[in-house]
Amino acid sequence: MDTKVLSSGIRYTNLPEGYVRPESERPNLSEVSECENVPVIDLACDDRSLIVQQVADACKNYGFFQAINHEVPLETVERVLEVAKEFFNLPVEEKLKLYSDDPSKTMRLSTSFNVNKEKVHNWRDYLRLHCYPLDKYVPEWPSNPSTFKEFVSTYCSEVRGLGYRVLELISESLGLEKDYIKKVLGEQGQHMAVNFYPPCPEPELTYGLPGHTDPNALTILLQDLEVAGLQVLKDDKWVAVNPLPNAFVINIGDQLQALSNGRYKSVWHRAIVNAEKARMSVASFLCPNNDAMISPPKALTEDGSGAVYRDFTYAEYYSKFWSRNLDQEHCLELFKN
Ligand code: OGA
Ligand code: NI
Repeated sequence: MDTKVLSSGIRYTNLPEGYVRPESERPNLSEVSECENVPVIDLACDDRSLIVQQVADACKNYGFFQAINHEVPLETVERVLEVAKEFFNLPVEEKLKLYSDDPSKTMRLSTSFNVNKEKVHNWRDYLRLHCYPLDKYVPEWPSNPSTFKEFVSTYCSEVRGLGYRVLELISESLGLEKDYIKKVLGEQGQHMAVNFYPPCPEPELTYGLPGHTDPNALTILLQDLEVAGLQVLKDDKWVAVNPLPNAFVINIGDQLQALSNGRYKSVWHRAIVNAEKARMSVASFLCPNNDAMISPPKALTEDGSGAVYRDFTYAEYYSKFWSRNLDQEHCLELFKN
């Protein structure tokens, strides 16, 4: 490989060896069908109890849903996609100034997932940012493209608002007070991964991201409308979740699985790559405060089943997560009672 990132302007005609999955781990794309009955939730619906019921069903049975009428302005969304595209189109030398493979960095351009831990690489470059509080982190963000900071920070505030609204719905859907989860998670961190999946010569042999669950509480994913690539595990089968105009994919992460005492499932998902077209996605992660104690509420353990996981702080979970790679045993398993 000539550069540390894939988005270097080189068009690969063969998949470099380091990206080739062993046969048993390949995506088997011909066996993947479209996800049926994807839960689509209209957040502007007048009947709140109906939304809460839909959220409960989606979180229980799918671990994700698509949110429409979410109140994030279309222009804000279009601008973030545009500036993200411009960023990845910058000359590779410019981008490499931001390159790091150290997961503890709060701003970095990187590639694959965790290059120093993984055996097989993934066909992805990503820009990872911390986004809360904005005045603390925006100064370290890329200043090229010149509109990056403005457009991305507007997007981050909007998405945070949406995240909070969804966490209220999730609290209610578990029979808890509306602000229960917000209180438990404390002052939440917010991270962003701007994902760029270049055209890949052999999409059958590799991943953009292999199957994983998100280690945080809630993920709000903006998908490229033109190129599909997200797949989720539903009833032990990988199914495609195709982009819907003006929608966000909202994923339950590991922390909500633990907090809900296993009632809600942190959804297994993966990103596959495309032979012809580059694909982009923007993932916003709401993360519990480092000191937040992740412990299920009494109301969810009283049915005699007890707590599925031991109590832990988010800091403990997060450091364990990044010390591993995506192919290992699921991180939550390590916290089982
Ligand atoms: C992620 C992720 C999926 C996608 O960034 O954690 O799962 O479609 N992305 O890019
Ligand atoms: Ni993910």
